[in-house]
Amino acid sequence: MTNLSQTETGIREIAQLVRGQATSDGDGVKLTRVIGGRALADLDPFLLLDEFGSDSSADYIGGFPSHPHRGFETVTYMLEGRMRHRDNQGNEGLLVPGSVQWMTAGRGIIHSEMPEQEEGHMRGFQLWVNLPAKDKMTAPRYQDIAPERIPRVRSANGTEVRVIAGDYVDVTGTVTRGPVEGIATDPLYFDVSLPKGASFEHALASDHSAFLYVFEGQAKIGARAGDAIRGDLAVLSQGDLVSVTAALAATRFILVAGRPLREPVVKYGPFVMNSRAQIVQAVDDYSSGRFA
Ligand code: FE2
Repeated sequence: MTNLSQTETGIREIAQLVRGQATSDGDGVKLTRVIGGRALADLDPFLLLDEFGSDSSADYIGGFPSHPHRGFETVTYMLEGRMRHRDNQGNEGLLVPGSVQWMTAGRGIIHSEMPEQEEGHMRGFQLWVNLPAKDKMTAPRYQDIAPERIPRVRSANGTEVRVIAGDYVDVTGTVTRGPVEGIATDPLYFDVSLPKGASFEHALASDHSAFLYVFEGQAKIGARAGDAIRGDLAVLSQGDLVSVTAALAATRFILVAGRPLREPVVKYGPFVMNSRAQIVQAVDDYSSGRFA
């Protein structure tokens, strides 16, 4: 667990800087694990964050063949490239550049996520969001969100915010609501692009866990102007405001926040439950074909 400062109001600072680890998953897909690795095991309610990105098909062509999930949600945000999603209930969808799939695995799905291209760029993120104990065995649910449904709010200073989840409030007080709905942890998920020299400020619920992952440029964060460079995940301290400046270069980051669950977490690969007994049950249900 990360120790967050106890300050409940004020500007959020960098509580911890995390560098992802190069790894592979699925059938040899190369990726960078930022949450869920040794440096940051989890950030309640967030269980995992992977960044994938390559121009070389050898790094992604194997995809993620059929595998199960139970007890949490997977959120795929494609920046570039196309992935085909299929599950054991007959659901199928194509993730295109700029699209989001928020999948609530609940009591269990078996799915594959395979590249729908043999060359070119593939780039994006997968985030795992925990479910509260009362919802872990809920029915599976998909929110497949096409790029045109994700609002892009441009400001006078050249800032652009893609609002995936949560309410974005601009400097005039206008509220833009992201298309993802009905998620237990009340998440905020913004993709923010800043031109060099521009600043971004936004209110956050003071008791929500929050992080910022810089994937282009370099951000100065908080009143202390702590630096986060490309590939840094900044865990934010508690507070009610996030403040970022792109002092040195055009900068792009995802800002993600959510209500911590403060419940026991027992992980076993693609199953995340509250007790060992529930994990044993999940393995048994899967191997006995009860996810079908
Ligand atoms: Fe998956």
